[in-house]
Amino acid sequence: MSSLPRILVENTRGIEETLERLLPRGRQPEKALHDAMRYAVLGGGKRLRPALVVASAALFGVVGPSALRTAAAVEMTHCFSLVHDDLPALDNDELRRGRPTCHIAFGEATAILAGDGLLTQAFEVLSDPATHDAAEVRLELVRVLAEAVGASGMIAGQAIDLAFEHESVDRPGVERLQALKTGALFTFCTEAGAILGQADQDAREAMIAYGRNLGAAFQVADDLLDHEGDSAALGKAAGKDAAAGKATLVAVLGLEPARAMAQRFAGQAIDALEAFGEAAGGLKELARFAVERRS
Ligand code: IPE
Ligand code: IPE
Ligand code: MG
Ligand code: MG
Ligand code: MG
Repeated sequence: MSSLPRILVENTRGIEETLERLLPRGRQPEKALHDAMRYAVLGGGKRLRPALVVASAALFGVVGPSALRTAAAVEMTHCFSLVHDDLPALDNDELRRGRPTCHIAFGEATAILAGDGLLTQAFEVLSDPATHDAAEVRLELVRVLAEAVGASGMIAGQAIDLAFEHESVDRPGVERLQALKTGALFTFCTEAGAILGQADQDAREAMIAYGRNLGAAFQVADDLLDHEGDSAALGKAAGKDAAAGKATLVAVLGLEPARAMAQRFAGQAIDALEAFGEAAGGLKELARFAVERRS
């Protein structure tokens, strides 16, 4: 098994400190909302998306608060998506990151609001002058994240994920669903580095291609891990996709072709970084981790 990629080892602490500082800590009567937001974000997770932001920003010479605040906004967005994904009306899950899901711990109403609060705070963080001196950079971050997460991005992917349950779907259909529900946020993570660094169009497109392929690889790996069924290692219920009739590449292609697809997407992600040479070594390592991970 692969060891933890250095991008995760080096960046997790700074990301978690930033999140801890930014998340609200309220008094009554809204304390449960703030507690639920903190519970959903601060209780573990691989921190892969925010680490991707930090490493992608570093590739363009951007370090410090600009990168960390953008990374924190991404993790808030991701945790919003997990809280809502786990709700009874969606995947109806009771375990996340090795603990009860947010709605089990705080009740459904508070979990819905905590998700709303996290998504909204992500945009507050991005638009704050502390994130970048240049207003046009902040506006571009806000615009690109909104597009990635909204009704033509991740939320569309979640809607399609529900619409396709127990339907017979072809491979392009599943690939589009996964590109939206997972690929769109991954693409924001890697494109954000180029936006923060005000990189040229070629570099930005290379980062988009890397993120898109990495997200595809990551979601096929998630589906394979669900199929393999080690709930303890995953910290979430496994074996649920088949039972729920989810449209995955495992369901459509079978196990070995799905494994081959995950490898192919990871390879394409690595190829997209060719122009950056050695400087992108950590990002290439992360692409291999995305498909070799056990949790
Ligand atoms: C889970 O993402 C949701 C998917 C898109 C598959 P992660 O596997 O990154 O979850 P955490 O953040 O590590 O808990
Ligand atoms: C979740 O996909 C994607 C988003 C949360 C947007 P899954 O439903 O497969 O994620 P897990 O397996 O519950 O983490
Ligand atoms: Mg889901
Ligand atoms: Mg789910
Ligand atoms: Mg899954």
